[in-house]
Amino acid sequence: MKIKTKPTIESVAVHAGKRNKDQFGSHTTPIYQTSTFVFDDVEVGAKAFRHEEGGASHVYSRLGNPTVEELERAVCELECYGLDRPEDYGAYAFGSGMAAISTGILAMAKGGHVVAQDALYGCTSQFLKEEAPALGISTSFVDMSDLFLVEMELKKNPETKLVYLESIANPTMTVADIRAIAQLAEAHGTLLMVDNTFATPFHIQPFELGADIVVHSTTKYIGGHGTVIGGVMVAKKELLEESEAAIFRKNLGGIAGPMDAWLTLNGVKTLPLRMKKHAENGMKVAQYLESHPKVDHVFYPGLGSHPQHALASSIMKNGYGGMIAFELIGGYESGVSLMNNVKLCTLAVSLGAVDTLIQHPASMTHSIVDEDLKKQAGITDGLVRISVGIEGAEDIIADLEQALEIQN
Ligand SMILES: Cc1ncc(COP(=O)(O)O)c(C=O)c1O
Repeated sequence: MKIKTKPTIESVAVHAGKRNKDQFGSHTTPIYQTSTFVFDDVEVGAKAFRHEEGGASHVYSRLGNPTVEELERAVCELECYGLDRPEDYGAYAFGSGMAAISTGILAMAKGGHVVAQDALYGCTSQFLKEEAPALGISTSFVDMSDLFLVEMELKKNPETKLVYLESIANPTMTVADIRAIAQLAEAHGTLLMVDNTFATPFHIQPFELGADIVVHSTTKYIGGHGTVIGGVMVAKKELLEESEAAIFRKNLGGIAGPMDAWLTLNGVKTLPLRMKKHAENGMKVAQYLESHPKVDHVFYPGLGSHPQHALASSIMKNGYGGMIAFELIGGYESGVSLMNNVKLCTLAVSLGAVDTLIQHPASMTHSIVDEDLKKQAGITDGLVRISVGIEGAEDIIADLEQALEIQN
């Protein structure tokens, strides 16, 4: 039998992040639930502050913590799976996805312009539109499915420092042509930051396609069990250093706590296993919804009817994920009725948990997004978003069926 040399992503996920043998031989990662670290003597402490050799490895948990670092190495290994030089990359974990995104944007785009995708998670959109300008960063929003518009926007704004997009946009399920946009960003001397929350590295690996920075809300699929809020930013170590991302994180204070990092690490171990089932169920639920007479339209990258199905098939691996958006023929009222009548599916925002969650972006996650931007991005009043869980697909479908039946 031929011995495989490259481990599968399943094996990488299970063992990701591990480095040191624990002093007591603990099998699982210890939770270093401490705010500060003890120095052997003054010299060791002073050297740590001067970042000199022989200094203490840890100082204070707002700067770094061993449990948090294990999570950072773990997510970094998954995002860099299959790259030639994964050792060139590093990661920082945060207390939320928004902490990773806002800190990342402030560090990478300081004093410059951001060209951002029009359909984005509501708080990211609000941050770019309302807070970032007061901090010296301007943003223009553009439909990134039109590469010509992206190029025009980059030409119009030569001070652009960052292009920002979601690999699969929340909530419209628009798939970004990361490879082509990365080429445009490079040609205009700007960085490309990708929020890979919906896709996860199991389905899309933005670095392989030319992205410079990957951010995640680890609250979602990476954590996977709905138990923790967290975020992470991954980039080449050189870029993290150059942008002073560690100093931004230290002084904005957004690092993840050790307990949250530990909970998230447990999620990392089963990410490929869960994503496989999310994607399998996602396809079955999307096909069911598409064939339902009360459903007007389904947005799922795995369906032939998705406007970027061919692109999705060329950049996504192992399926098309577990997120679906759809419009009911009866619009808003029908959406409300559906959400009020499901029994197995839970009416809640967030996504990527093991159980199926359903919500209404226009009144919930995207209610804070500017009306014009919502219209431009296709976030209509009748759009329903479903995060398909890992229950039996037939049970999820049966629940949707009974709830759709109730509508007139
Ligand atoms: C795509 C995406 N990015 C970022 C975030 C923000 O993450 P968090 O809630 O962990 O701050 C969310 C939250 O829903 C999201 O859906």
